[in-house]
Amino acid sequence: MIRLHVNIDHVATVRNARGTAYPDPVFAAQLCEQAGADGITCHLREDRRHMRDADVERIRASVSTLLNLEMAATEEMTTIAARLRPDVITLVPERREERTTEGGLDVVGTRPAIERVAEMCTTQGIKLSLFIAVDLAMVEASHALGVEQVELHTGEYCHAAPLRREHELARLATAARCAQGLGLEVAAGHGLNRHNVIEVAALPEIVELNIGHALISDAVFFGLKRAIDGFREAIDRGIGRRPL
Ligand code: PXP
Repeated sequence: MIRLHVNIDHVATVRNARGTAYPDPVFAAQLCEQAGADGITCHLREDRRHMRDADVERIRASVSTLLNLEMAATEEMTTIAARLRPDVITLVPERREERTTEGGLDVVGTRPAIERVAEMCTTQGIKLSLFIAVDLAMVEASHALGVEQVELHTGEYCHAAPLRREHELARLATAARCAQGLGLEVAAGHGLNRHNVIEVAALPEIVELNIGHALISDAVFFGLKRAIDGFREAIDRGIGRRPL
């Protein structure tokens, strides 16, 4: 009931720390697929801090489930994506100085750039998803652009102080309901771990989760198979809490 897409960027982060050829993100993608991941997500950043062009090309050639390419709505990335033809493109905001994708897309302010990517996606038959903050105006603007999916940024929920957590979860629930009501598919991601993912998976509108850092961290200790199984169990617990 929920697609689990594993973001394997940080396998490349470990590799790049030493400039070796290992650990190979392509091998990680294969192991994730064998372990039951529904898709592989990777982010080709402008600064190529983790994934590189050759990585995404080899991953594209190897992935048999689904490839979700996260990218900024730039001309360079649009050209690369048109050639690569991932199954899904998730547009994310990008700032060089950020540690990871820190906010959602400004769907209104960057509309012309998003439209250029959307046009390419239509031509190439690629599904388009927008990574947005938990903000009803952004949900509505995404719908107005005619995209198929939004991915709600779960960072504020994941990083909230305990007393604010319920409030952030309620905001996520409202945005998810609004998005689904407008006919959008609703994904979520960022900062999710085996504990906080349960409540997100319990939101009935969520059909996809993109999970990277915490899952790859678990894999350092337990291997990718057990890490994915652990997340699946947590997600299933969340699904079990959905209202009937
Ligand atoms: N979804 C999107 C759009 C992202 O940019 C990221 C981070 O690369 C994730 C999900 C995964 O976040 P995390 O690594 O915190 O699980």
